[in-house]
Amino acid sequence: MRKPFICGNWKMNKTIAEGLDFIEKVNLEKLNEGVEYAVAAPFVMLQKLKEKSKNIKIAAQNVHYEKSGAYTGEVSFDMLKEIGVDYVIIGHSERRQYFAETDETVNKKVLKALEYKIYPIVCVGETLEERESNKAKDVVEIQVKKALENVAKQDLSNIVIAYEPIWAIGTGKTASSDDAQDMCAFIRKTIEALFDKDVADLVRIQYGGSVKPDNVSDIMSKNDIDGALVGGASLVSTDFVKLVNF
Ligand code: PGA
Repeated sequence: MRKPFICGNWKMNKTIAEGLDFIEKVNLEKLNEGVEYAVAAPFVMLQKLKEKSKNIKIAAQNVHYEKSGAYTGEVSFDMLKEIGVDYVIIGHSERRQYFAETDETVNKKVLKALEYKIYPIVCVGETLEERESNKAKDVVEIQVKKALENVAKQDLSNIVIAYEPIWAIGTGKTASSDDAQDMCAFIRKTIEALFDKDVADLVRIQYGGSVKPDNVSDIMSKNDIDGALVGGASLVSTDFVKLVNF
């Protein structure tokens, strides 16, 4: 019912030439048709990647919620729309940590993304300290609720939630697939409480945090995990292909 969705997050890696080389290599591969796949790339290469890509969807890693104006260094939804960008990552923990992204800006961006039909991949997740003090679910519940404030029920199926425990990002420490499943099920329950079960069952929830070719199938075998948001292991085209062909 929910199409699996593997999204690479290149973060601040690759030149345009390297990005294009990756797309060309993946274009030649036979990839699982039952899986949707994308790469979230730096702004400067989005247009070229979009032109080159056959079946790989293209995502931005951030966007501004204002339509236009004096926001030096920012990129708007109209600009992304012109390129034909498919998805946008919103509220990645690195944006929250280093660039002052808040639950409030996340919510503004989510609402705009739905309006523009550039579908949001909304990141939520707890710190190690929050997990160790048993607050992980409280934290994630608040993040999910705030992100979805004022979202219309009929738009919900266009939202992807990425559960990314911060302590598992780029550290080589993956949450156990059972812990990841437990939190993703909790996120679905939170959405059900906000809306209803039918619509909660349509929302795709990804896990992210040190996903690699050798652990992706275990993670993808879980009932409430519908995909993965993958940083480090998405940089090499052969690994990306293995992730999609989990
Ligand atoms: P990682 O990053 O796969 O390198 O842990 C995941 C992410 O930040 O989306």
